[in-house]
Amino acid sequence: MAKIVNSWNEWSRLRRVIVGRADGTMIQAPEPAIVRDFPDDGFPAGAYGPMPQDMVDAANEQMDNFAAILESHGVVVDRPEAMDWSKAIETPDWTMDSQFGVMPPRDVLLTVGSEILEATMSQRARWFEYLAYRPLLQEYFREDPDFRWESAPKPRLTDASYHGGPEFWHEFESLDEEEAIERFTMNRRWNLTEEEPLFDAADVGRFGKDLFVYHSSVTNAAGIDWLTRHFPDHRVHVARFRESHPVHLDATFVPLRPGLALSNRKRVPLEEDMVTLFEINDWEIVPCAEPALEEPPPLCYCSVWLSMNTLLLDEKTIFVEEQEKAQQQQLYDLGFEVIPVPFWAVGPFGGGLHCATADVYRDGDMEDYFPKQIPGY
Ligand code: ARG
Repeated sequence: MAKIVNSWNEWSRLRRVIVGRADGTMIQAPEPAIVRDFPDDGFPAGAYGPMPQDMVDAANEQMDNFAAILESHGVVVDRPEAMDWSKAIETPDWTMDSQFGVMPPRDVLLTVGSEILEATMSQRARWFEYLAYRPLLQEYFREDPDFRWESAPKPRLTDASYHGGPEFWHEFESLDEEEAIERFTMNRRWNLTEEEPLFDAADVGRFGKDLFVYHSSVTNAAGIDWLTRHFPDHRVHVARFRESHPVHLDATFVPLRPGLALSNRKRVPLEEDMVTLFEINDWEIVPCAEPALEEPPPLCYCSVWLSMNTLLLDEKTIFVEEQEKAQQQQLYDLGFEVIPVPFWAVGPFGGGLHCATADVYRDGDMEDYFPKQIPGY
């Protein structure tokens, strides 16, 4: 029997990966977790429905191309199942008129060593997203006797999990960036309450024995506490950055290789102990390059900072979006072989090259890259 699942960090040689798909992605129906509001592109707040087919086709073409590039580098590529995300869903607590999609596997699946953990997620539209990965996870489970298949407690996601839902977002939208940072980010309080543990897998940065978890608008303190107890052999650290609407760590702070991390040039770290931890262990943190875009494309709820949402093939080789020339040059200057990949069409489906993938196998074992620790952090 084969060893299929093994990945402890973001940089060791990649051997097997899941790449998402754009098929059937929806602008989701209204729900308390989030407001989608694209008045200029046919989806004002409250409107929902399938993403335009030409955008789906363009995104799928770029994802298929990326899968082929990965395969040409000897990486085995798995794809989730296409599902009907327009289907309404129901739990004992609520109904939801649509779901979302399955473009960003990174959001749902957290691979730590021989474990893949299905995240709770915090949007009702994403409640059943894990089902698209079940055929793959079942296959890994059958073939790899060491594969630990885990699922975090499914959340109730009743109104008690949200501070006011749409009203929260209405207030949020009325503020400028700095006001929103002062009111919400500095108080660690966005729409999610602490009713139950909630986290997205993409809020976790994997640095061997150390995991950095973004306290974000989709991951609450209870979620970080749950992860801390779930991974007793790891050191779990809270990460926070100066941004008004934090969602996922991988466009904000990413490791490049042992001793080197890339930090969003605009989103300053707020956790002083985190910066100190990197310093005392001789890690260098470099600010990322300027993104090529000034505004995100139509129907995109991610920011232009997907420019730094890269995927490492190994410690020396990195996939970067084709048109992000400044980011490519910076990584080249840092000693990387840069492989450009066209991926802008995928952004509106939930992210960049890192979001669109989930690690299954990278070489190597759990290592300690932060032997000096800070008590209490
Ligand atoms: N919130 C990030 C930004 O817009 C995008 C992160 C997307 N990451 C992901 N895994 N889906 O800057």
